[in-house]
Order: sequence, then structure tokens, then C-alpha cells
Amino acid sequence: MLQKQPRQGKDRFMPIDHVTIIDHPAAQAALTALRDTNTKTGDEFMAASREFSRSLAHEVPRLVPPSAREIETPMGVMASGIRFKPNILLVPVKRAGRGLVPGFLEQPFKIKVQEIGIRRNERTLEPEIYENPFNGSLTDFDLVVVADPMLATGGTACVTLSILKELGVRKLAFAGVVGCPAGVERVQREYPGVPIFLGAIDPMLNENGYIIPGLGDYGDRLFGPRQD
Ligand code: URA
Repeated sequence: MLQKQPRQGKDRFMPIDHVTIIDHPAAQAALTALRDTNTKTGDEFMAASREFSRSLAHEVPRLVPPSAREIETPMGVMASGIRFKPNILLVPVKRAGRGLVPGFLEQPFKIKVQEIGIRRNERTLEPEIYENPFNGSLTDFDLVVVADPMLATGGTACVTLSILKELGVRKLAFAGVVGCPAGVERVQREYPGVPIFLGAIDPMLNENGYIIPGLGDYGDRLFGPRQD
């Protein structure tokens, strides 16, 4: 499994492949708060999730190349710069993916958000689609980003990626918080060209499909236990 750090230096606008671990200290501090069992469900957990999502929202759009732009400075000389107006669709997987939306909405370019409802059957651990709002083509977007915090078995990620791929998406990415080898390897095997962005890859899954050490149930920690 290839792990790449965010690119630095002269090629920092180049596309990033495979797995990028978001290692910015602000993101890692937010991840630490997310992991901490003393971080309170609701507002406190949401604040840490928002902070982590800011780092994802800086990193993931690098996959869309900017265009060149010449401007004149107040010194009366021309300078080279860039224009960056990517056309991005963010697809948060309900419920937990909602925690990754805020940072993307703070970006200085417009990002469209369309949720998809997929839940894991707690007995079989297989994903079940309960809300699929997609029917038309998605070919207009420069990048479509699946947002789901926990890349555990990879089942939900792969179902979502397959729905989007069938709608003609040109470039896909996966944005999460914590993954584990089983989930990362499944996405890489089934969707080899799709870049994955995470804060960490933890060692294992337990028998209930939870990542260890992980951070517990992301949706429950954001919103409390499900009522259905
Ligand atoms: N979903 C979660 O919320 N947590 C895990 O550890 C795995 C899947």
C-alpha cells in the first residue's frame, strides 16, 4: 500500500494519487480530539470534525489543476498567477459524512453538496442504500468527492464510488478521517485510480467492523445514537 505525503515545492499543484495522509498539525490535533473519549458528543465533537474537514478541503481540491493567469501589480508590472475555480461535487454519506461538510463550504470557491444515504447492516456489515438522489449524468464536475469519515470494510465507499462512476464522473476521490488496511486495500483494488485522503490508517477492524484504536461510531458521536 502506497502512502504519500501532501506534495510540497514546485509541483504542489500536481494531482496526487493513492493515499494521502493529512499530516498538518492542525488536522492531527483535530484527529486527536476526535479520538479522545472525553470529547463530548455533539458540539465539541462537531467542532473537531469541522477543523479536520478544513484540512481535507485544502488538500483534496489540489486534484483539479488551476489555470494560468497574468495580472498587473500596483507597481505597474505584470506577474504570473493562477485562477482556481474548480467545479466540485461533495457527496457526504449520511449520517457521519455530514461532519466533513463544513470545511468544504468555507473554501473560496463554490462546492455543490449532495448527500447519499447508505447504512451498514450491523449483522452482515454489508452496506444498504436507503436514499440515492442521483439519476442524471455527473459529467460536468471536475471532481466528485465521497466524504465518509471511517474507511472500515470499504463496502460503503465502494458502493458509493460505483454509483458515481456509472453516472460518468470523470475524476473521483475519497475523503475520510480514519481508515484501516482492509478498507484502503479494497478501495484501491476495486477503484485503483481513486485517490484516498485520510488522517490516519489504524491497524485493524474488530469483529463488529469498528476500527481499532479508531474513535468509535462517528455518526453517534456527532449526533447521538440513531433513533431508527
Ligand atoms: N464506522 C464508524 O463510525 N466507526 C468505525 O470504527 C467503523 C465504521
